[in-house]
Amino acid sequence: MTDMRVGELDVISRGAGATAPDESTYSSFVDPSTFCAVVGHSPCGVSVVTARDADGCSHGITVSSYASLSLDPPMMLICIDTRSRIHPVLSVARSFAVNILSAEQESLARQFSSRADDRFAGIRCSPGKSGDLLIADALAFLECRLVNAVRAGDHTIFIGAVSAAQARDGTPLLRYRGAYTEPLTRRPSDM
Ligand SMILES: Cc1cc2nc3c(=O)[nH]c(=O)nc-3n(C[C@H](O)[C@H](O)[C@H](O)COP(=O)(O)O)c2cc1C
Repeated sequence: MTDMRVGELDVISRGAGATAPDESTYSSFVDPSTFCAVVGHSPCGVSVVTARDADGCSHGITVSSYASLSLDPPMMLICIDTRSRIHPVLSVARSFAVNILSAEQESLARQFSSRADDRFAGIRCSPGKSGDLLIADALAFLECRLVNAVRAGDHTIFIGAVSAAQARDGTPLLRYRGAYTEPLTRRPSDM
């Protein structure tokens, strides 16, 4: 698998047969607020993605647009706003970590989506095998080697090959219709 970075993407994706939407496609889009309201009906997990810049300084962001992508090899994807502070970090990073938050970690989701300069203030975490920070008591983590990035609208899809992963029993934090929530039924082992 070859490493690719955001700058190269247009050429690469077109070469692979992908087609960019033409102007008439864009004009038929629903407005963003309708889009958000509608997709918000699908509950999703909440994670904190961490990565390091060229100086080794850690960055983190709350991300609900994450998903498993491939089984063999195991791969994850995260979708990151091109205007976010972590976007330029990920664009040159070699790796990132996805920390899946538990229902008890709503305050972390708020902190890592805030405008705070130091989002790690007061957060217990430690470096994983790749060096990216893993958040204490997260429900699960996946450490990923960044292998590809695909620009899509105002986001970039960063794709990582999973190099380490671990989970514990617990209840996930969910986002549903613009609010934090958790599954109505907890697993028996969580009660
Ligand atoms: C529940 C929740 C989920 C979010 N999911 C994403 C996401 O998937 N991708 C993304 O780029 N930003 C997401 N955000 C927004 C970022 O966490 C962050 O607030 C925004 O990008 C501003 O970051 P910046 O201050 O680093 O620029 C989410 C925010 C919240 C509250």
